[in-house]
Amino acid sequence: MKKKYRIAVLPGDGTGPEVVREAVKVLNAACAARGVTLDMQEYDFGGERYLRTGEVLPDSAIEEMRGYDAILLGAIGHPDVKPGILEKGILLRLRFELDQYINLRPVKLYPGVETPLKNKGPEEIDYVVVRENTGGLYTGTGGFTMKGTPREIAVQGMVYSRFQVERCLRYAFEYTRRRAKRNTLALCGKTNVLTYVYDLWERAFHEIGSSDYPEIKREYYHVDATCMWMVKNPEWFDVIVTGNMFGDIITDLGAITQGGMGIAAGGNINPEGVSMFEPIGGSAPKYTGKNVINPLAAICAASMMMNHLGEKEVAEAIEKAVVYVTSQKLKSLGAGRMGYSTSQVGDMLAEHVS
Ligand code: IPM
Ligand code: MN
Repeated sequence: MKKKYRIAVLPGDGTGPEVVREAVKVLNAACAARGVTLDMQEYDFGGERYLRTGEVLPDSAIEEMRGYDAILLGAIGHPDVKPGILEKGILLRLRFELDQYINLRPVKLYPGVETPLKNKGPEEIDYVVVRENTGGLYTGTGGFTMKGTPREIAVQGMVYSRFQVERCLRYAFEYTRRRAKRNTLALCGKTNVLTYVYDLWERAFHEIGSSDYPEIKREYYHVDATCMWMVKNPEWFDVIVTGNMFGDIITDLGAITQGGMGIAAGGNINPEGVSMFEPIGGSAPKYTGKNVINPLAAICAASMMMNHLGEKEVAEAIEKAVVYVTSQKLKSLGAGRMGYSTSQVGDMLAEHVS
């Protein structure tokens, strides 16, 4: 296993730079103690750069990103930039061009963290959502006719190829096998209404599952019911696989059950290429520069990144440190309510992983 990794760091907008700074601090401490070196290169893509230069993401940046072992992202979104420009131009463009076709989002309640779910604890809330990350409603297929008139029509297509569905399902089956928890993969769809797209998903799910993963139990839930059970009986879930839009929606629900955006992290994964890890919350402009935002989500993203790179020991050390602060230190995960500043939380973790 190689012990040196090249990491592109994209702090982005709002509180992104603050949380990424702490994640980098913790990464460096955890790696140094275990003989791993990270060669990190920072990029200033985001709202400030766009407002200054008019450039969202230079084409050369995509090519440069291909040369890294992984990417660590803070947050994208600026109050002075029209919604969509930065999200589409940076986040979605990187996901698409680097073909990060999986969005891996663990829903895990850490000890000491408060959940809005009654009578549920870390035992019950511990599953993973595998969200397809490059297709579906996110492909941007569609358009307007008669725009601006009372008869205007807008169409936006949920597009999926068998190829896209299949590679996502295979990843989910493999992940379920590796996770070896309850050996259960649930497909989240809407076969009663989206009778083309989720028909394709469902057929592929059972075909691949029965021929190549017979030991993995297969379950199916409609997306609306999935939401209900994520609240009522989260312990039913082990791994959930779903399309892009449903995955976006249910992972916000999942995030709030694990304590919210202060802790929820995800990975945009290209199993054959360069992957990008991020806290799943936004840029939280109103907390920018105040040193009050919770950096744990970014730190959890850093742990996922090290796990992905094959550095399990580093990843586990970071995760253990997260458990230490959630169970023994923080009063709450909310910005300004932790009982510590952003940098103090980073310091505690850095010390714990050393
Ligand atoms: C997410 C975000 C993005 C998405 C937005 C910012 C484009 O909500 O990562 O979940 O919809 O995928
Ligand atoms: Mn989202």
